[in-house]
Amino acid sequence: MKICVINGPNLNMLGQRQPEIYGAVTLEEIVVATRDRATELGVEIEDFQSNSEGDLVSRIQSCAGDADGIILNAGAYTHTSVALRDAILASGVPCVEVHLSNIHAREDFRSQNFVAPVAVGQICGFGGAGYVLALEALVGHLAKDR
Ligand code: DQA
Repeated sequence: MKICVINGPNLNMLGQRQPEIYGAVTLEEIVVATRDRATELGVEIEDFQSNSEGDLVSRIQSCAGDADGIILNAGAYTHTSVALRDAILASGVPCVEVHLSNIHAREDFRSQNFVAPVAVGQICGFGGAGYVLALEALVGHLAKDR
């Protein structure tokens, strides 16, 4: 089983970026922890980060026929991007949405969400630990179909 972990804009700044909201953990540390758990589960992880919407669309498209699942933190594009939503649908690859912060408890504009309706489910509010939770949830979901 192969899972692609895709991170959008500004998530490369984790560790320095608004630590009171996002914590002190870096994206690299999150990916290492997710990969460690994936190894225990016998799952392969590929990871990708971009600040560019088009690159994220292309990476999601390339998961079609290649990855079994996607873990996606689309950052601010979650709240704006029809293109990312369409790419998830076009890929046909089951996607779990992750956010470090609880987007439902923040500014009103973060309650607009183009990803959630096309995701298998959403994990938010648990900081970097949410990626491992998403992995476990996605692997469990995919195992049901096997
Ligand atoms: C985020 C939440 C988004 O609203 C925000 O734009 C981000 C990070 C999170 O992980 O909590 O960039 O996706």
